Amino acid sequence: MATLNLRKPTLRSVETRESPPPEARGADYVMEIKNLNAYYGDLLAIKDINLRMRRNSITAVIGPSGCGKSTLVRCLNRMHELVPGGRIEGSILFNGEDINAPNVDPVELRSTIGMVFQKPNPFPKSIFDNVAFGLRINGYRGDIAEAVERSLRQAALWDEVKDRLKRSALALSGGQQQRLCIARAIAIEPEVILMDEPCSALDPIATLAIEDLIRELRKSYTIAIVTHNMQQAARVSDETAFLMVDEDRAGFLVEFDSTERIFTNPSHQQTEAYITGRFS
Ligand SMILES: Nc1ncnc2c1ncn2[C@@H]1O[C@H](COP(=O)(O)OP(=O)(O)OP(=O)(O)O)[C@@H](O)[C@H]1O
Ligand SMILES: [Mg+2]
Repeated sequence: MATLNLRKPTLRSVETRESPPPEARGADYVMEIKNLNAYYGDLLAIKDINLRMRRNSITAVIGPSGCGKSTLVRCLNRMHELVPGGRIEGSILFNGEDINAPNVDPVELRSTIGMVFQKPNPFPKSIFDNVAFGLRINGYRGDIAEAVERSLRQAALWDEVKDRLKRSALALSGGQQQRLCIARAIAIEPEVILMDEPCSALDPIATLAIEDLIRELRKSYTIAIVTHNMQQAARVSDETAFLMVDEDRAGFLVEFDSTERIFTNPSHQQTEAYITGRFS
């Protein structure tokens, strides 16, 4: 077997961002996941996951298909329980509080911990109404037009749509629709945004636009992003969680560390193999 030199960057084409080491950034965790197991009926989909998300950081979740990345992020805003048979064990703390405590309203939680999906899913409504949707549902008392403009600007879409806000969102391109969905998610000012493969349906240019946007959003939000794109994980995230699936089919966390370390000097051979494409 070839020996691996873990000291060298393993993906030559990949630039990792320079982030200060975690300890230098102070420990302010928005989400803390402790001993999390998630089931679909009898199927244990992910087991014993422990990880923490720092405020204003971007956490990439990577790993082979079926290892439980989507399941993990869906647990973080209690969307997992919407699947029949979906249940969890362990705890998920948001700002120190258990999101599964009886007094937590899951609908309210989901407006604080928002989600952007793989396939852009704008409502069959106007561009304006898509972004205003959550504000209206939540009885927003401020100026809705102003909030819509702010969200579209934050999502780097305003200039492209400002003259056609009343037109159908369905007439936008895929990349524009995805930015619209991000605008819709941020309009209600969540604290955390979960993104499950947000760029997988996009071309490389739209993908880079979304990546720039994610970097920008990090100033105001804490983000988790599931991706199959190693370059994307390396470019965009501060920390990376690598999951794999066990013989019992349950996904587990192999390694969670700064993205720089995961991509240049991972602790586990499995991580090295996966990020360099030698995973079988
Ligand atoms: N609705 C569901 N009902 C039953 N089992 C499910 C359901 N969704 C996912 N699973 C199972 O849970 C495990 C993890 O699936 P999950 O979708 O979280 O993986 P993933 O890492 O997101 O995969 P991919 O990269 O293909 O999106 C798999 O074994 C899958 O078959
Ligand atoms: Mg998935």
